[in-house]
Amino acid sequence: MTFELATVEATSKPELYAGLASQLRSLFEGERDFIANAANLSSLLFYSLPDVNWAGLYFLKDDQLVLGPFQGKPACVRLAMGSGVCGTAAQQRQTIIVDNVHQFPGHIACDSASNSEIVVPIVNNGLLIGVVDLDSPSFARFDDEDAQGLNELIGIFVDSTSMSELLESDSR
Ligand code: SME
Repeated sequence: MTFELATVEATSKPELYAGLASQLRSLFEGERDFIANAANLSSLLFYSLPDVNWAGLYFLKDDQLVLGPFQGKPACVRLAMGSGVCGTAAQQRQTIIVDNVHQFPGHIACDSASNSEIVVPIVNNGLLIGVVDLDSPSFARFDDEDAQGLNELIGIFVDSTSMSELLESDSR
């Protein structure tokens, strides 16, 4: 299969995310491999969303968030549940939008260029799988429309991907 990343000409964030949703469905067509689909999700986000310097996934393994496929600079590999933006979002199972990461208690800095961040939990059948994390060099880059759009993309990822590899690997 060949896939050409399309530039989505959008006049609003909902329109942009709708375009990405349709590209993601094409990318995942006939493919349920966990690492492959996570890798393509991170690439699509990094190359299609403006003003983003890191986009990737962390997966819950034995009560820690472990770095998964991502685009951007090398990042912290293991994050404790409840700490930093990712660990807090995972523990609360809630999307967290941080306008200024330097003011977030316990923020874990992986790239000094990052100034704002959004973390969206990945939940499958009530089980926490991990999180999607996006960083931006701009302050207040992310808002509720990003949260909603990312949630939709994560829903497509969850529906299209076999999680058995992850679920069998630990005691969850
Ligand atoms: N900033 C995150 C850590 C992950 S990196 O940004 C890729 C946090 O505070 O959890």
